Amino acid sequence: MTVSWEAEVDLVIIGGGVAGLTAARTASLRGLRVLILSKGGPTDTSTQYAQGGIAVVAPQGDSVDSHVRDTVEAGAGLCEVDAVRSIVEGGQAAVAALTDLGAVFDHGRDGQISRTREGGHSTRRIIHAGGDATGAEVQRALNAAGLPVMFGAAALRVVTGVDGVQGVIAVSDNGFGVVHTPSVLLATGGLGQLYALSTNPPGATGDGVALALWAGAAVADLEFVQFHPTVLYTPGGVGRRPLISEAVRGEGAVLVDSQGNSVTAGVHPRGDLAPRDVVSRAIAERMRALDTDHVFLDARAVDGFAQRFPTITASCLAAGIDPVTQLIPVAPAAHYQCGGVLTDTHGRTGVAGLYAAGEVARTGLHGANRLASNSLLEGLVVGERAGAAAVERVGVHARIDELPSWTLERADRAVVQQAMTEHASVVRDGAGLAGAMKRIDAETSEVPVPRTDSAARHLREIEDAALTLTARVLLTAAAARTESRGCHTRAEYPNPVDDRQHSTAIRLLPDGALEMSTVPDDSREEEATRRTSRPRTGVQ
Ligand code: FAD
Ligand code: SIN
Repeated sequence: MTVSWEAEVDLVIIGGGVAGLTAARTASLRGLRVLILSKGGPTDTSTQYAQGGIAVVAPQGDSVDSHVRDTVEAGAGLCEVDAVRSIVEGGQAAVAALTDLGAVFDHGRDGQISRTREGGHSTRRIIHAGGDATGAEVQRALNAAGLPVMFGAAALRVVTGVDGVQGVIAVSDNGFGVVHTPSVLLATGGLGQLYALSTNPPGATGDGVALALWAGAAVADLEFVQFHPTVLYTPGGVGRRPLISEAVRGEGAVLVDSQGNSVTAGVHPRGDLAPRDVVSRAIAERMRALDTDHVFLDARAVDGFAQRFPTITASCLAAGIDPVTQLIPVAPAAHYQCGGVLTDTHGRTGVAGLYAAGEVARTGLHGANRLASNSLLEGLVVGERAGAAAVERVGVHARIDELPSWTLERADRAVVQQAMTEHASVVRDGAGLAGAMKRIDAETSEVPVPRTDSAARHLREIEDAALTLTARVLLTAAAARTESRGCHTRAEYPNPVDDRQHSTAIRLLPDGALEMSTVPDDSREEEATRRTSRPRTGVQ
């Protein structure tokens, strides 16, 4: 490998969405030299597409306890309640910081911030911007902060030594690069591209999960992939599909089947506003029963639809559907990874100097199913904390003296997506999961890391390697969870099982095997003790 460029900083952030940019801002304000690597452009993030809003405790008629309760109920027994409380409590300050940066949220005629309701929430607490363009406003405000981003630069490996992180190897249009740094924050977003249909942008290829595993960190709860119930259905559509926000149901739209019957009647006391896993399962079951590939969202009674939901209106009109006068065809599609890199609520992993925040991280907030609009909240709160936590590594000697060599194990993306879509979607079973693993294993081959300095064109291979490893881990976790819980539904084990009410951590061993262990309840305290016993240097 020929190294074409080199840099040295205090913190490398991989990812330019809400989590990465929020962390970068905090770390910069604390005097750290920061470099953000982003394999796409400024808006190639899931953050950009967020619609419904940010869940944050309302000043009236709401409380931290209530938001915690709703989150824990949606999380189906796997939320870490201390983590939930800590992140929920940070919401108002995080939103205030974003507003200070220039983000503008929608206000009602009374001059107060408008709040909507989404599935699983007991009250209207979701703040939004531009009607249904919340993510675009968050991304705009953070992009405008003038943070140091290298666009078109993909991280390939986080290099570690005896003192933890030593640096990152990346590739950009200028060839391979090496960044020497004691701290790396993974803020790479999700893994929606594991599936043929997803709300996620093309870059959501599970890179952060793979980078963490390759660096020796653990991941957990990857079996819990959230399928959003209402994604615009168009015959033959593949890849990123337009979302029809849950806020549309929050404003009164209802789900009906082709015979005009309610899809969720009698399924859950909150009906169409039940937690997402419940609604997605109800839709999948109705589609199976009626042998169809979609149901409908009837939003015709929503007042001022086009003004309240301009992005959704545009997507529907582009597909030839007028949501004001017609039913919107919808079906579930892959939307969010509830699990990820195992961290505490400051983004710390078990590898010194390696942090993760945002969708790629598993803090314990989401458990087995994320509550709607808790993701931007988590990205803001934990992003800010992770940026601050990296201060603890300033002064640690970090240098990549010798370039490691490695190979990429990859199956073709189309094979992975087909296997995962058929066998690891809303409802899974043991035989299907095993079949998917067999198919992916059979198609996996080892390819050397490209050695030329025009490696940017090999981005697809690098992403495929991340998708392949992420799929293996997800299938392993899903096969081991012989129960139904949250957004993991096993056809042959329809109920939750008490003695499986724990998260499972997975590590990648040097021989390529996956090692599973139970995440202990007190893992965070143990981690904290271990860290504080390690000598620290530099500014605090
Ligand atoms: P992202 O915003 O996805 O950013 C990831 C970044 O990492 C990108 O810059 C990407 O280029 C970069 N990257 C990835 N791999 C590499 C690599 N190897 N090297 C370099 N860079 C890399 N959540 C809510 O709370 N409320 C909502 O209303 C909401 N609506 C949503 C609607 C849609 C359509 C989608 C897709 C998601 C929605 N979510 C919502 C979820 C939420 O938007 C995401 O979970 C969140 O924005 C993720 O932020 P992030 O910073 O973790 O990652
Ligand atoms: C939506 O607007 O329905 C998406 C919200 C989310 O994913 O949190």
